[in-house]
Amino acid sequence: MTLKIPYKNILVTGGAGFVGSHLSIALKNHFDRIQVTAFDNLIRRGSEFNLPRLVKAGVNFRKGDVRSKKDLSLDGKYDLIIDCSAEPSVTAGTGGSPEYVIDTNLFGACNCFEMARKCRADVVFLSTSRVYPIDLLNNLDFCEKDSRFELKSRQKIPGAARQGISEEFPLNGYRSIYGSTKLGAEMLLIEYEKAYGIKAFINRFGVIAGPWQFGKVDQGIIAHWAASHIFNQPLKYMGYGGFGKQVRDVLHIDDAVGIIIRQITQMDKISGKVFNIGGGVKVSFSLLELTDCVSKLAGKKIHIGRTVRESPNDVKLYITNFQKAGKLLDFKPEKSKYEIVEDVVKWIYDHKNELRKIFT
Ligand SMILES: NC(=O)c1ccc[n+]([C@@H]2O[C@H](COP(=O)([O-])OP(=O)(O)OC[C@H]3O[C@@H](n4cnc5c(N)ncnc54)[C@H](O)[C@@H]3O)[C@@H](O)[C@H]2O)c1
Repeated sequence: MTLKIPYKNILVTGGAGFVGSHLSIALKNHFDRIQVTAFDNLIRRGSEFNLPRLVKAGVNFRKGDVRSKKDLSLDGKYDLIIDCSAEPSVTAGTGGSPEYVIDTNLFGACNCFEMARKCRADVVFLSTSRVYPIDLLNNLDFCEKDSRFELKSRQKIPGAARQGISEEFPLNGYRSIYGSTKLGAEMLLIEYEKAYGIKAFINRFGVIAGPWQFGKVDQGIIAHWAASHIFNQPLKYMGYGGFGKQVRDVLHIDDAVGIIIRQITQMDKISGKVFNIGGGVKVSFSLLELTDCVSKLAGKKIHIGRTVRESPNDVKLYITNFQKAGKLLDFKPEKSKYEIVEDVVKWIYDHKNELRKIFT
């Protein structure tokens, strides 16, 4: 089916990052006669490696910072702003200043919304499952299986079920500085949508993974795990006994980009809505299961240490219940967990020499 897009000039902030670069390139590949500008301050280690991919696809690149209104006063007349810029680590600000994460994720996002108001542009905001409170998630009813924690079928908290966490899950409680900057930005965007007639939607993603993600210990777990196997880097299971049973659902980057593109073609239908988007129960891993999959696909086994103490802001389990997006947008993840790891491992082997510098 050929999709029609009602936009001609799209700005992707964080456009040199993992999601932003894939999305910018896919937009250029999908639609004729649109301009796509990727805007990024290149602070994320590895983002500069995405620039040749952007240029090759015909995406314009502008170096700039969302914290600066001056940098954002671009000459283009944008009709859609997709905010993918962020400090995306859930541990950001822990043990140090939270200034960067607040200034970028909250005030930077507000600068993007303000720019949208002035240009009369629509907005897509990439949010996170980390808006849901940590204590509530960790106090769900679990059972412990050989390789993972699982949610029991009956849960006392609304929005929680065996198939995961839906948009109905309560929002009261602490959630990390990262999570609160994202929730704050979400709330403001809903106000902008009502007050200024900007069309906008919000996607709360679980873990997204795929090639060109420069994963590190606190963000981008699949790439980090695979690269650590391939380059013999130390890894350890942290927290919850140190057995690696904590679970996340994972969404392939192609599925994440695919749903965003479908959503922006239906902006009138979904404006003002919030969606939980992720791989769901079927596409979920515990760290233990991830180790098994990576070591088979990478053809390498490494020793994995263990620490009993949890890393700050960790949760035992997060699985996305994407029923709302399923019903309204016909969303379902296409790529299996095996394909996700396979694509990441292949990417690392194909670019082993350049990537060694980043991952070691
Ligand atoms: N990757 C995931 O698993 C995941 C999951 C849930 C939500 N998200 C959200 O999706 C978005 C994209 O995440 P990602 O995985 O691509 O992260 P990423 O770190 O790869 O990309 C973010 C980009 O933003 C840029 N950036 C950071 N601060 C900036 C600033 N002040 N001004 C301009 N650019 C700046 C970085 O250089 C980087 O290129 C983020 O909002 C993140 O919170 C990602």
